[in-house]
Amino acid sequence: MSKQRNRAAILISGSGSNLQSFIDHIERRELDLDIAVVLSNRADAFGLQRAADAGLPTAVVAHGDFPGREAFDRAVAGILDEHEVDLVILAGFMRILSPWFVQHYAGRVLNVHPALLPAYPGLDTHQRVLDAGDRWHGSTVHFVTEELDAGPLVLQGRIAVRDGETAAELATRVQAAEHRIYPECAALYAAGRLQMRDNAAWLDGEKLEKPLVRDF
Ligand code: GAR
Repeated sequence: MSKQRNRAAILISGSGSNLQSFIDHIERRELDLDIAVVLSNRADAFGLQRAADAGLPTAVVAHGDFPGREAFDRAVAGILDEHEVDLVILAGFMRILSPWFVQHYAGRVLNVHPALLPAYPGLDTHQRVLDAGDRWHGSTVHFVTEELDAGPLVLQGRIAVRDGETAAELATRVQAAEHRIYPECAALYAAGRLQMRDNAAWLDGEKLEKPLVRDF
């Protein structure tokens, strides 16, 4: 009997270029996963159009309609659970998740962050890298825990910062890297090779002491 495909929810707030990369990888059969639903906290997120164009179910849960973070998260989880989701993929979802949500999906939430974590959690990562004069920058896929941008690291896409490069140019190159590493990471999870356990990431039964790195 063939194993059931994993069902993922992709949570977005904006352009959805990472969502598009997942759609493309699945269409090319490079990622063995079903996107069960694409959910946005913003009705005007362009990613919703990408999802509709690909024939995927979409949902909008506007965070302003809820009295607090957990009430919003419970509404989101209600939709994800209706879609029987195994994996939650945060792809430019610009909301901080409540402890309740993180525990509800413990070990089943991935995020991509545009920096080489643990460096530069939070916002404005590209400008902060330039201001610091760093030689290296990139993006990190990690499991989500209650602490913001601090869960177990899995995979990083690394680029060398070029002389005179602007924050916008860096952002473009970092995103190109994330479009490769995020589906790669999801594929490892979908194949049952990647898990989160004891607050660590495990690949093929071995604890990852540091993230895997791909250079771009
Ligand atoms: C991505 O670059 C992602 O790393 C970042 O938002 C962008 C979304 O782009 N995420 C964060 O900053 C989360 N802290 P997209 O909507 O085109 O996929």
